[in-house]
Amino acid sequence: MRINRLDKTVNIKETEVTAILITETENLELALLGAETAKFIKEYALTENFTGKAGTILSMPYPSNPSKKIILAGLGKKKANLNEEIRTATFNVVKTATTKENISITIYCDNATDKETSKAIAEGATFATYKFDKYILKEKDEHRIPEEINIYDANLEGINEGLILAEAQCYAKDIANEPGNIITPQTLAAKALALADEENLECEIWNEEKIINEKMGAYTAVARGSANAPRFIQVTYKPDTKEKGHIVLIGKGLTFDSGGLDIKPADYMTTMKGDKSGACAVLGAIKAISKLKPSWKVTVIIAAAENMPGGRAYRPDDILTARNGKTIEVNNTDAEGRLTLADALAYASELKPNIIVDIATLTGACAVALGTNTAGLFTNDDKLGEKIIASGKSTGERYWKLPLDDPELRKSLKSPFADLVNCGERYGGAITAAMFLEEFVAEEIKWAHLDIAAADFIKTPKTYYSKGASGFGTRTLISLIMQL
Ligand code: BES
Ligand code: MN
Ligand code: ZN
Repeated sequence: MRINRLDKTVNIKETEVTAILITETENLELALLGAETAKFIKEYALTENFTGKAGTILSMPYPSNPSKKIILAGLGKKKANLNEEIRTATFNVVKTATTKENISITIYCDNATDKETSKAIAEGATFATYKFDKYILKEKDEHRIPEEINIYDANLEGINEGLILAEAQCYAKDIANEPGNIITPQTLAAKALALADEENLECEIWNEEKIINEKMGAYTAVARGSANAPRFIQVTYKPDTKEKGHIVLIGKGLTFDSGGLDIKPADYMTTMKGDKSGACAVLGAIKAISKLKPSWKVTVIIAAAENMPGGRAYRPDDILTARNGKTIEVNNTDAEGRLTLADALAYASELKPNIIVDIATLTGACAVALGTNTAGLFTNDDKLGEKIIASGKSTGERYWKLPLDDPELRKSLKSPFADLVNCGERYGGAITAAMFLEEFVAEEIKWAHLDIAAADFIKTPKTYYSKGASGFGTRTLISLIMQL
């Protein structure tokens, strides 16, 4: 699929599909299409009760050539930021338009000269072409991709950036959608290596022996119960010019989470292939970063492991020593993500970056608190928090700040036998998990933790998402770095 800019000065390109993204208040200003066509569209919309409500779509024949189609896609009420509505409308247009192979679509949208508008159109179109169906061999649904999309009076930079962002997110989804028998810590490391190779990034992979030597006692404990050995993955982007700063992105990379000896009930174990979604998001982010070339150095860290109840598994009551020297009493082997992140955070702190952001499918409690469409945000730096929320607004990914300062909750991390337990009380579970992580971040470093549990997986299709991995957070991280 190519996405082109249709120049304002050239005549309208009569493609198979002409799509118009339109708000409710817009009085269908369609002069571009000629008075007669405009009149036809207005009347058709009127009889079909199409008013431009967000998410609605109306398809009609082109009056002068009924083999061609006109599609109206609603954006809802006119407002300052319509990017999310534009992504959804474009997604719907592309899905509706591709009834046969090699279709060519022309899209009209008010303000396409604006970079963010063109970006949103390119993103929505790309998401419409995403499908994870490689394992369906029989009776596969038709999956057609348009040949070209022409955006009238578009912003070229916006198209380019939108493609990079959406492709990064689709890349994250592709890995997250793979099951645990395909993506293990080893194969995840191979993906990271392949990515680094392709994008000219540095990459270092540590095996179990090396990880043990590096004194990552919390992380290695989690990995012990699996026949699939852990891999500690580091990918680095370095700017060509002088570095303005250094940010570390840490993604939770549990290629499968059975719960370990504190095994999960069956209903809670399905979708746990998605427990590597944080890792996928940071890999997607650095893929885009290598193309967008910000002036910050970016390091991606993934402590990849599989949480299984094998004979070598870590046990409840075990006492572990993390890389920063703190001891942890295990009171629940299913609170494993924070143990892998503890060592990753301690290691990242030693690199002395300006900022660390971790992203993790960490707690069911966060999903209970915020639902599946909003991620929890915890930070020791309000300005960083504001930047993440703002990046989320521009990408359509929602974050809500939760507290780290409740002294009563913090007490539940106390252990009679070690410095900490890995699992606090049930109430406030997302918060105590974040407080646990904070114990492993050097105080002077700005840090944010994003809990994407359940936001990582789309159960019921919505906006521009179909069922499966969402790739949540990928675009937020990219847009954050591009704003630093
Ligand atoms: N990976 C899960 C969290 C999770 C739950 C992600 C639902 C996505 C959807 C995590 O490792 C976990 O098992 N958390 C436990 C923590 C508990 C033992 C304190 C949970 O949420 O139940
Ligand atoms: Mn778990
Ligand atoms: Zn987990």
